[in-house]
Amino acid sequence: MFNQLQGVPPDALLKLIVEYSQDQNPSKVDLGVGVYKDEQGLTPVMQAVTAAEHIILDNQLTKSYIGPAGSALYCERTAQLIFGEDHAVIKDHRLSIAQTPGGCAALRMAAEFINTCTKNATVWVSTPTWVNHTPLLGDAGLTLKEYPYYDYQTKSVDFDAMLQTLAGASAGDLVLLHGCCHNPSGADLSNEQWQQLTNLIMDKHLIPFIDIAYQGLGDGLDEDAYGLRLMANSVPEMIVASSCSKNFGLYRERTGTILIISSSAERANISSSQLFSTIRGNYSMPPAHGAAIVETILDSTSLKKQWLSELDIMRLRLSGNRAALVNAIEATGAQGDFSFINSEKGMFSFLGMNPAQVKRLKDEYAIYMAGSSRINIAGIAKHNVEYVAQAIAAVIKA
Ligand code: LMR
Repeated sequence: MFNQLQGVPPDALLKLIVEYSQDQNPSKVDLGVGVYKDEQGLTPVMQAVTAAEHIILDNQLTKSYIGPAGSALYCERTAQLIFGEDHAVIKDHRLSIAQTPGGCAALRMAAEFINTCTKNATVWVSTPTWVNHTPLLGDAGLTLKEYPYYDYQTKSVDFDAMLQTLAGASAGDLVLLHGCCHNPSGADLSNEQWQQLTNLIMDKHLIPFIDIAYQGLGDGLDEDAYGLRLMANSVPEMIVASSCSKNFGLYRERTGTILIISSSAERANISSSQLFSTIRGNYSMPPAHGAAIVETILDSTSLKKQWLSELDIMRLRLSGNRAALVNAIEATGAQGDFSFINSEKGMFSFLGMNPAQVKRLKDEYAIYMAGSSRINIAGIAKHNVEYVAQAIAAVIKA
């Protein structure tokens, strides 16, 4: 049976991790996979996380099974973080929540849940979107259609084209949106655009499906959830997939959440039963450790304060790196206007370079980024920003 298999190429983004680690060039720069890095290029364990781990080790009494939904305290605290403590969907008991192995499992369980609700559902995804959205949702059997999002010419969201395409979607179709810090472009919707999109979604009876993997790394925890909360105020049904990989730095702990809003508390009970049954049939129940860290932090006033200040430092470093890179490129006299990078949010921006130029940056300068010229802004540091800027200028010129 296995003899019939054809090999598949490794995931292009994850391949960059291996290529970068094997590169012997002392000037190498990693602008590839979306992990936060400090000035030294390290992805440190947050201090609040380490403190929480000590508390967990000292106090845990059992490692017995916990069930498909995971920890109830984690689910409650995460929902408050995402929607805000007093949000109507929490007060009205319209939420079904489960702790998941990372944001990826939240997305996949959302796809499986959608399959249980209806066969042949259509999900509209942005062009471009995060590369792993396609296998996570498409391989589960959902039909994926694309709406225009990032305009490579104007280097901004083509909102009119987005609205125009979504106006042609059918009632009951889902619209996958990035809650903040759009991956890969960094180009986000304004609050006004979220309002217009909400109106369209309501008019056309579409269902928002929001992936929020970078909350807190754009403008702040509440600011980054503006659009999501607005939609949750307005629509009867919605799905959210969230991740603690980036804002808690828990990448390898695989800690995420799926949150489903149903039209009533009664419907939410039914949705919960289906969601938990779907999870049971997939991975049975989620791993505990990452969620234990998150709930320990969010349930403690002092640890939460510490985590918020560390998150602030990360966010400010990202926006500072944006400015530093734009200034350094301008200082080289390079062709083109890169100031758009300053108005984008979170970890990513496109440089707007073609695949041959991206390859030259890797081969000649040991600067690693996704083939689309998406860069991880966190990889910029004081010691490499001029090197990166000069390499970009040289490659554009040639
Ligand atoms: C990325 O887009 O680089 C990250 O979300 C990491 C991943 O799993 O792709």
